[in-house]
Amino acid sequence: MAVQINPSILSADFARLADEAQAVRGADWLHVDVMDNHFVPNLTLGVPIVESLLKATDTPLDCHLMIEDPDRWAPQYAEVGAGSVTFHAEAAHAPVRLAREIRRLGARASMALKPATPIEPFEDLLPELDMLLIMTVEPGFGGQSFLDIMLPKIRRTRELISRHNLPIWLQVDGGVSAATIERCAEAGADVFVAGSAVYGMDDPAEAVRALRTQAERATLGAPWACAH
Ligand code: DX5
Ligand code: ZN
Repeated sequence: MAVQINPSILSADFARLADEAQAVRGADWLHVDVMDNHFVPNLTLGVPIVESLLKATDTPLDCHLMIEDPDRWAPQYAEVGAGSVTFHAEAAHAPVRLAREIRRLGARASMALKPATPIEPFEDLLPELDMLLIMTVEPGFGGQSFLDIMLPKIRRTRELISRHNLPIWLQVDGGVSAATIERCAEAGADVFVAGSAVYGMDDPAEAVRALRTQAERATLGAPWACAH
C-alpha cells in the first residue's frame, strides 16, 4: 500500500474552504473533522458543508466523525458522496451494522479508536472495515502534541491486519508532523492525517510533498512493510 497524506481542514481557514482545498492539491484525501460538542468538547461542521466541499474539490473526502450516535448520523455522509466515513468505536452502538451500511452506500467504512481504547476487542470486526484510525491525541482539537505512547498500539494493529491478511488501511491522526511521521510509518501506519503540520506552513502543498517523502522513506525500512 502506498503512503497517503490527508491534510485536515480543521487547521484551515473555514471562511475560505474552497481555496484551502486547492492549496493542498496533490494530497490523497481531504480529512474533514466533524465534531458535535458532545463526543468531543468542540463543534465544527456537518453535512451541508461536506456537500459544498464536494462541489469545490476533486480530492475525495475522508470524514472523521467525532460525534455521538454515529449509527444515526454517519450514513448521511456516505449518501452525499464522502469517499470514506470514519465513526468512533466508543460511540457506535452497532458497529457491524453501521460499517455495512456505510459500504452499502458506496463509501469506505472506517473505525477510529481514542487513545485509551484497545484494538484487541475488535479483532473479529476487521473484515467489515476498510480503514482503522488510531488517534495519536485525544480527539477534539488540532495542534496538540503527538502521543508517543500510541506507537505500540499502531504496531499491534498492523500485526493484526497482517495476520488476517486484510487490505485495511491504517490511519494515524493527531500531532503528525515532520518530527513524528517517520515513527508512525515505521510502526505500521500508511495513511497520515496532518492539520497544523500542513496548514500551519507557508506552502501547504509543499508540506504535503515533504511529509510524503519522509513517510515513504521510513516505510521502505519498516519491518512490517518489508515482509510484503
Ligand atoms: C483532532 C482531529 C485531527 C486534527 C489534527 O481531534 O481529529 O484531525 O485536525 O490536527 P493536528 O495535525 O494539528 O494534530
Ligand atoms: Zn481527525
